[in-house]
Formats: sequence, structure tokens, C-alpha cells
Amino acid sequence: MKLTRKNWISACGALAVLFLVASQAAARTGMSCAMCHPFASDTHPHEFPKFQEQIGKFSTLRDMINWCIEKPNEGVKLDSDSDAMKALEAYIYWSNRGSKLEPGTH
Ligand code: HEC
Repeated sequence: MKLTRKNWISACGALAVLFLVASQAAARTGMSCAMCHPFASDTHPHEFPKFQEQIGKFSTLRDMINWCIEKPNEGVKLDSDSDAMKALEAYIYWSNRGSKLEPGTH
């Protein structure tokens, strides 16, 4: 299938569902990302890499996704090169489209 802008966006719609349920499958708590980040709120993907206190080092968006899977979600972290990781990342970026780039503000 050719990846056009239109089917890219509809794929992102499907990713929204993935955002809700993907982590639930891995998580013992049954919590999904969307419970704490509805519509990927407060994820600030465009500000990474940045220093994350809770990880104690400069972190990428993928590090932070895995932190949330392991800590609040009590799940098993994703391979950072896996399709599920890329899908979560794509959904987070798509949901934050139009956000102003303000490094260092969160
Ligand atoms: C129980 C609530 C909770 C759940 C569930 C949760 N998160 Fe988080 N998330 C947080 C908290 C708290 C932070 C830390 C905010 C900070 O210190 O910047 C955070 C931060 C983040 C950040 C970085 C935001 C930033 O600018 O620093 C990302 C990205 C993120 N979460 C993605 C996810 C993903 C993906 C999932 C599902 C696998 C998820 N979160 C599930 C509570 C949660």
C-alpha cells in the first residue's frame, strides 16, 4: 500500500485506539496511557531529548514512553525499535501537531 498523506492520517486514527489499549495488554495495572494523557496530552514529544529527573539522564521520547510503561503502568517495556513503539510515538506526534516548539518549558 502506498503511504499517502490521507491514509497516513487514517492510520493515525487507528493508532489512537492502540494508544488506549496497547499498554493495557502489557500492564498489570490495567491502566492505559490515555487515562493519564487523554489525546496524548502533556506528552510534549517535540521537546525531547531533555533531562528527565525521574530517569536521571537526558532522555529520548522512547525512553520516556518506556518509563511510563514500567512505572505508572507497571508493564513490560517495549523494544525501542519495535512497531508498537513507533506506533505510540507516531500517535503522540500526530496528536501534538501544531504545538509550539518551546524547548525547556516542561
Ligand atoms: C498513572 C498515570 C500515567 C500513565 C498511565 C501514563 N503516564 Fe505518561 N506520564 C505520567 C507522569 C506522572 C509523567 C511525568 C511528567 C513529568 O514529570 O514531566 C508522564 C510523562 C510522560 C511523557 C513525557 C512528558 C514530558 O514532557 O516530560 C510521555 C511521552 C508519556 N508520559 C507517555 C506515556 C505513554 C506512552 C503511556 C502509556 C504506555 C503513559 N505515558 C502512561 C503519568 C502517566
